[in-house]
Amino acid sequence: MKFLKLLLLLFVVQMQAQQGGMWIPSLLEGMNETEMKNLGMKMSASDIYDVNKSSLKDAVPQFNGGCTAEVISSKGLLLTNHHCGYSQIQSHSTVEHDYLTDGFWAMKMEDEIPNKDLEVTFIVKIEDVTTQILNGVEALNSEADKQKKIQENISNLNKSFAKESYQGIKIRTFFEGNQYMLFVTESYTDIRLVGAPPSSIGKFGSDTDNWVWPRHTGDFSLFRIYADKNNRPADYSKDNIPYTPKHFLPVSLDGVSEDDFTLVFGYPGRTTEYLPAVAIEQIVKETNPAKIEIRDRALKVTDGFMRKDKAIKIQYASKYAGIANYWKKWIGETQGLIKSNAVQIKRDQEATFQQKIIKAGKQAEYGNLLADFEKNYEEILPYTVSRDYFMEVVLRNTELLGLGFKLYQLEQIQAMRGDQALMDRRDNLVDGLDDFYKNFNLQVDEKVFEQLIDLYLNKSPQQFIPADLKNTNIAQLTASVYGTSKMTTYAGVKELLTGDSQTVLKNLNNDKGYQLVKSLGEAFLKNVNPKYEQINTQLSALQRTYMKAQLELNTDARIFPDANSTLRVTYGKVKGYEPRDAVAYEPVTYLDGIMEKYIPNDYEFDVSQKLIDLYNVKDYGPYGENGKMPVNFIGTNHTTGGNSGSPAIDANGNLIGLNFDRVWEGTMSDVYYDPAICRNIMVDMRYVLFIIDKYAGAKNLIDEMKLVHPKKGKQSAKKQKVKNKRKKN
Ligand code: ARG
Ligand code: GLU
Repeated sequence: MKFLKLLLLLFVVQMQAQQGGMWIPSLLEGMNETEMKNLGMKMSASDIYDVNKSSLKDAVPQFNGGCTAEVISSKGLLLTNHHCGYSQIQSHSTVEHDYLTDGFWAMKMEDEIPNKDLEVTFIVKIEDVTTQILNGVEALNSEADKQKKIQENISNLNKSFAKESYQGIKIRTFFEGNQYMLFVTESYTDIRLVGAPPSSIGKFGSDTDNWVWPRHTGDFSLFRIYADKNNRPADYSKDNIPYTPKHFLPVSLDGVSEDDFTLVFGYPGRTTEYLPAVAIEQIVKETNPAKIEIRDRALKVTDGFMRKDKAIKIQYASKYAGIANYWKKWIGETQGLIKSNAVQIKRDQEATFQQKIIKAGKQAEYGNLLADFEKNYEEILPYTVSRDYFMEVVLRNTELLGLGFKLYQLEQIQAMRGDQALMDRRDNLVDGLDDFYKNFNLQVDEKVFEQLIDLYLNKSPQQFIPADLKNTNIAQLTASVYGTSKMTTYAGVKELLTGDSQTVLKNLNNDKGYQLVKSLGEAFLKNVNPKYEQINTQLSALQRTYMKAQLELNTDARIFPDANSTLRVTYGKVKGYEPRDAVAYEPVTYLDGIMEKYIPNDYEFDVSQKLIDLYNVKDYGPYGENGKMPVNFIGTNHTTGGNSGSPAIDANGNLIGLNFDRVWEGTMSDVYYDPAICRNIMVDMRYVLFIIDKYAGAKNLIDEMKLVHPKKGKQSAKKQKVKNKRKKN
């Protein structure tokens, strides 16, 4: 019995160990391919990534730098999240045509709406260029010289690497500087809005449900890629034609069952999975709490205005969502790191690792690493915290200060590069002001300022606060800045920026708002940032050596490179989880759950009459399952921000879901991945199809997709097996 238990434990550990990780698509052969096949994949590594034939990667572009999308028809139809297309949907919305509230559907191609500044980028190929980039670096002594040489090598390779004129090149580091990869890219810029459900579907549950399971959000939107007549990237033109992809994903109508294989393909932004314990401790105790408190205050103010005023709600919807998103994530992350004991686990791993270093006789090279981390992290702490305050208060959450800092950069540019440089930058800045003021409300920002400047002046490390701002009366400061600054209006800023360089500088320096930003900015740039950068460079070098040591000494570990906004594959299974004692979550939610959450007229949980009607008559067409409409499901795929809009793909390469979030208990996976509770959340593709077809009546879009039944025949047998297993348990 004991032996059996042990065996079972071993098996479980191994199954868990096979999951987690964000892998480089061109390097899947070997360990990853074996693991994926063990989990049920029927494809080979070359079906996922290949440079000589079309493969899955040809259907998965990055969406506007921060999200992922996938091509789902031969006519360049593009699927991504509602929250990824949110600012585009918002930008076409007015109080009269409110696509955020009511949704938007192009019933024919002529109705599709072009978008300013929106691009999608495909990966043509990936090459390891480590040797070229590190050439001549080893011989150099100082970290600064090494970095300089690396930058030089990168820029040379950028210039010399053979590519087509319409292609681009990106060179990125992996494993903290131990490996370099080159990406040949193709970026399309004529991207048109095709469809979006109303927010009551696309953002159902809004911020209350964000980062939470069980979830019921139809978080999708549709775009189309247009190309010139040679199918090449081209700026918007009415003569452009729908893009013909090298590959597009067929959509499965068969859905998922627990334990099904899933693969998520996309562009995860940033993780830090190999931090030392001391760094995680600072996140938990210092930086996350500070950032959370700042956003707490900003969000409360903005929310108050948005609930009262419809125009403000549209103006601030996208900004609010962005700020609330990471605010909530940091809260979950902090809780998860504490609950999972991440700091202690890392400390234990570090003790074992120190032993390994000694055993391998590598003390000279690696023996001081951990002690050096402790020392540098202790030293950098006040600078990190101060920097976070500056970023959050000045640059991110108070709009007037954020704009003011851009104006202050004009002055810096002038000092460095002269009058003409200031004039050029000014013209650029003025071009963007229109958009800024379109979504700017003076009352909202004034109240946010009053709250945040208080935190900044009273709670950020006091040694870095400019002397003349100590003991400031917050109400007076607020009244004087918002009462007199010309930055509070579009006309006012234009006035400040009119004239030659000297006039502009004089005007700016007479402005109360500008004076404040300048004082804060100077203090930050003089007293905080240089020291922060200096220690941080040290830390990066340590992290690189630490990574090298782990690759060398932990040879049996599954070490993957931290996310860096490049294309990655993560894989796992559809799986529920147990968040706490006596609670078990199922892996699939249904439309019934939407009706359970329904609160009439609530701005987060309202349900439109049309969806209620469809629910009442159970009109699910071919998309339902045993009389029920699946909505979301979860899996063990290791994802992060940037994976939004990523396709969830079945064992055969068909699209089964659309990634959009992670579960609350697992949001710490950017720092510490625990396969027992970390889950990604996906929209079931059948729900997407149901909304497009039955809800919106956009049959035209369904018709251009390729719908498939990969499970036909196998389905009933498998379901029965799962049911039996549940009964036994
Ligand atoms: N948490 C998801 C992500 O990180 C979804 C965010 C958008 N939704 C929202 N309610 N703010 O992007
Ligand atoms: N919603 C996230 C995004 O915008 C994805 C969820 C996550 O962080 O895992 O990329």
